[in-house]
Amino acid sequence: MAGLHLIEHPLIQHKISLLRDKNTGSKEFRELVSETAMLICYEATRDLPLKEVEIETPVAVAKTKIISGRKLAFVPVLRAGLGMIEGVTKLVPAAKIGHIGVFAKDNEHNTEKYYCKLPDDVSERDVIIIDPMLATGKTAVSAINEVKTFGVKHIKFMCIIASPQGIAAIEKAHPDVDIYCGVMDQGLNENNYIIPGFGDAGDRIFGTK
Ligand code: URA
Repeated sequence: MAGLHLIEHPLIQHKISLLRDKNTGSKEFRELVSETAMLICYEATRDLPLKEVEIETPVAVAKTKIISGRKLAFVPVLRAGLGMIEGVTKLVPAAKIGHIGVFAKDNEHNTEKYYCKLPDDVSERDVIIIDPMLATGKTAVSAINEVKTFGVKHIKFMCIIASPQGIAAIEKAHPDVDIYCGVMDQGLNENNYIIPGFGDAGDRIFGTK
């Protein structure tokens, strides 16, 4: 059984407060999404396995550790997930990147996938699916379904703000998937926006409104 990891680090909480402010413009919003993603990713990668190696320093031979084992892939959910890529790849530059486009079709549980391109070797990688907002959870559940069809065994979901409904939806459909987020908000409004949230993440990242 996986679980929810709320990352309550002061830097993350401070940056989320700046993201929430409706007066934060697109440039700063983009930078904050990227920085917050990097900080949450630090926790989401805490369990990466290490192996001991010997490295020659200018002074002596050091027994030291490097990351070993399965490699990582990040999969942003289009389009807002793209805003988190710069931050997470700063931490894990060797990770490959896939993309998934999914939208919620109606008020039921129907979603439609309109794009999916994953690395050829994705089944040998651990995958972290990224989206700044986990709202109803429909698109997240659908993105996880899609990644699983490629034979991926280890999947994590990373977001900045989650709703209780979104967390419950992932936990019900995919109890094996760990969720990493900065804060859980109170719920959703009638348009399925997170309350208080920070509005439409895609529009604020790309300046489309
Ligand atoms: N997607 C967003 O960008 N914002 C929300 O509040 C919910 C979903």
